[in-house]
Amino acid sequence: MKHNISNFRALNMILSMNFNLIPLTTDRVDDLVKLASPHLGEGYLDREYFFNSVTSNNYDGWCVVDEKNELVAFLIYYKTGEKEVVNKVGDRGIKEFLDSKIICLDTMVVAPKYRKMGVGKWLIEQAIKRLQKEYGFLMYAWNQRGKINMEKIANSFAFKLLGEYKELWKSDCENNLFKCPAKKSGIEACVCSTVLYYKAKELF
Ligand SMILES: CC(C)(COP(=O)(O)OP(=O)(O)OC[C@H]1O[C@@H](n2cnc3c(N)ncnc32)[C@H](O)[C@@H]1OP(=O)(O)O)[C@@H](O)C(=O)NCCC(=O)NCCS
Repeated sequence: MKHNISNFRALNMILSMNFNLIPLTTDRVDDLVKLASPHLGEGYLDREYFFNSVTSNNYDGWCVVDEKNELVAFLIYYKTGEKEVVNKVGDRGIKEFLDSKIICLDTMVVAPKYRKMGVGKWLIEQAIKRLQKEYGFLMYAWNQRGKINMEKIANSFAFKLLGEYKELWKSDCENNLFKCPAKKSGIEACVCSTVLYYKAKELF
């Protein structure tokens, strides 16, 4: 890996003293909805999404809980492949950069009071260390007026920018499925844009 392993070890140790990492389970579904909704949009990711994520063979993920077993953060990812990604993004130009087997980091939310402490990186590290030998890693990020929510995390794992797609989430945003700050007033047009990051298997 290109990132600094000793920094990650130190961070992991500090986080694991304060929090516990646990697998996703169906009894957490309501907590997952509650944590995600204010940040990604009410109803955008509903009980069904989380229930499927927990029970599907293609999906996996992790939760972080505090000493009272309260949910602090979660990451959900799924197995996909080159063809599916090219179809979803609608850009054949990215095909040459992709591996045949891909892990897509789908959804991650950290509770506001625990942000910028490395919890997000810690969660992604769990997926990478278990799956990097077999899969390339894909990440969709949200660019809002030049601020990309996952940019620093992507850079810290040495993901490469694959491209930016202004239309990919537009209809979801136009239909108010997720929270676009520009549209909160109900007047402004959507400014969301999707940034795609990828780390090829050979680069781990
Ligand atoms: C994005 C998010 C998951 C990051 O979690 P986190 O635990 O705060 O991330 P980390 O502490 O591991 O931070 C990693 C880096 O990203 C930066 N970062 C964190 N949140 C950021 C944000 N919203 N915008 C820009 N940079 C951010 C941190 O400053 C840090 O940079 P550094 O390594 O230079 O210090 C969290 O802010 C969140 O839950 N946001 C709302 C939901 C969301 O946007 N999810 C992502 C897409 S599903």
